[in-house]
Amino acid sequence: HAAPFGSTLIPIINKVQDMFGLIGSHSATIELPQVAVVGSQSSGKSSVLEALVGRDFLPRGSGICTRRPLVLQLIRNTTGDDEEYGEFLHLPENRFYDFAQIPREIQAETDRQAGQNKGVSDKQIRLKIYSPNVLDMTLVDLPGITKVPVGDQPSDIEARIRKMIISYIKQPSCVILAVTPANADLANSDALQIAGIADPDGYRTIGVITKLDIMDRGTDARKFLLGKVIPLRLGYVGVVNRSQEDIIKNRSIKDALIAEEEFFYSRPVYRDLSDHCGVPQLAKKLNQIFVQHIKKVLPGLKSRISAALIAVAKEHASYGESNESKAGQGALLLNILSKYSEAFSSMIEGKNEEMSTA
Ligand code: GDP
Ligand code: NA
Ligand code: MG
Repeated sequence: HAAPFGSTLIPIINKVQDMFGLIGSHSATIELPQVAVVGSQSSGKSSVLEALVGRDFLPRGSGICTRRPLVLQLIRNTTGDDEEYGEFLHLPENRFYDFAQIPREIQAETDRQAGQNKGVSDKQIRLKIYSPNVLDMTLVDLPGITKVPVGDQPSDIEARIRKMIISYIKQPSCVILAVTPANADLANSDALQIAGIADPDGYRTIGVITKLDIMDRGTDARKFLLGKVIPLRLGYVGVVNRSQEDIIKNRSIKDALIAEEEFFYSRPVYRDLSDHCGVPQLAKKLNQIFVQHIKKVLPGLKSRISAALIAVAKEHASYGESNESKAGQGALLLNILSKYSEAFSSMIEGKNEEMSTA
C-alpha cells in the first residue's frame, strides 16, 4: 500500500534511533517534534493525518467526528517481521491487526466518555501504531473549532475547544498543521488564527489547504498557496483528500493519492507550484523540519556517541584473544558506531541536508 511517511523515511533518523537502541536504552533517544492538526470542524484534519500515515484508521466524515483528542504514537517495527497493528491504551494486550476495526473502537471509546450526542471531551484517546512503514513520532488529531453548540454541547463549546487546542499547540516542540478548506473564506481561517496565537512568529506552523477540488468554478488557491494572502514563514501545501462520496465508496488511500496527483497535473494554475501541492510534498516539508530539528540537537548527541565509541573500543580491547565471540561482537558494534559517527559528522557539516524520498 502507499505510505507517504514510509516512502519518505529519513534514513538518517532511523539510523540514529537504531543506534540509540545499540548503545543502550537508557541513553536519551532523538525525539521528533510532535505534529498536531488544527482547524475548523470538517476542514479535513483527520483526512490529512491519515493520508500522511498512509493507512485508513481514523473516523472521518461530514459533521463532528473527532470529539476527543487522539494521541497517535507511531512506532517503527524494526524486527523485520513486517507486523503492523494498532493498540489502544484503554485496551492493553488487544492488538488490532485489522485497521478497519480501529475507527470503530475510536468511535466507541469517544461515546463512552463524551456520550453519543455530539459531546466533546478533553480526555485523550491514546493509540499506538506499530509498523515498518512509519517514523517514531507522535501525531495528535484534535476536535475542530465549532461556533454553534449542537446536541449535548455546552453553550461555551467554542471557548472550550479553543482552550483544548491551545493546550497542545502551545508546546514549543509541536509542529502545527493549520488546516483550512479551500471552499471556505481562506482569508478568515480559524486554523491560521489559532496557530498564530500559539506560534506568533510562525516558526512551526505549516499551512495546509484542503478541498482544492471543490472550490467554486473559476477560483483557485494559487495566491494563497504562494503566501500572498496571509504570509507564513514555512509556507503552504495544498492537498486533495477523499470526498465524502469516496469514503462511502471505500476508495483506497492509494487511489486517492493517484487521483490527487492527476488533479494537480491537469490544472494549469497549479502546474508550476509542485512544491506547494500534494500530500507527498507535505510529508517532505515535515521531514525537512525534522532534519532541522535533529541538526539542532546533534552536537549534544555526537559527544554521547563519541563517549560510547570510546567505551566500546576499550571493552573490545579488554577481551583480547580470550573470548573470541565477544571480541567479534565488540568489533561489529565498533564498526557500526563508527559508521553512524561518520553519518553524523556529514550531517553536521550539512552534506546530508536533503532527505531521501526514495
Ligand atoms: P475534520 O473534521 O477536520 O477531521 O475533517 P474530516 O477529515 O473528517 O473530513 C470532513 C469531510 O470532508 C469528509 O467528508 C471528507 O471526506 C471531506 N474531505 C476532506 N478533505 C477533502 C478534500 O480535499 N476534498 C473533498 N472533496 N473532500 C474532503
Ligand atoms: Na468531520
Ligand atoms: Mg476529525
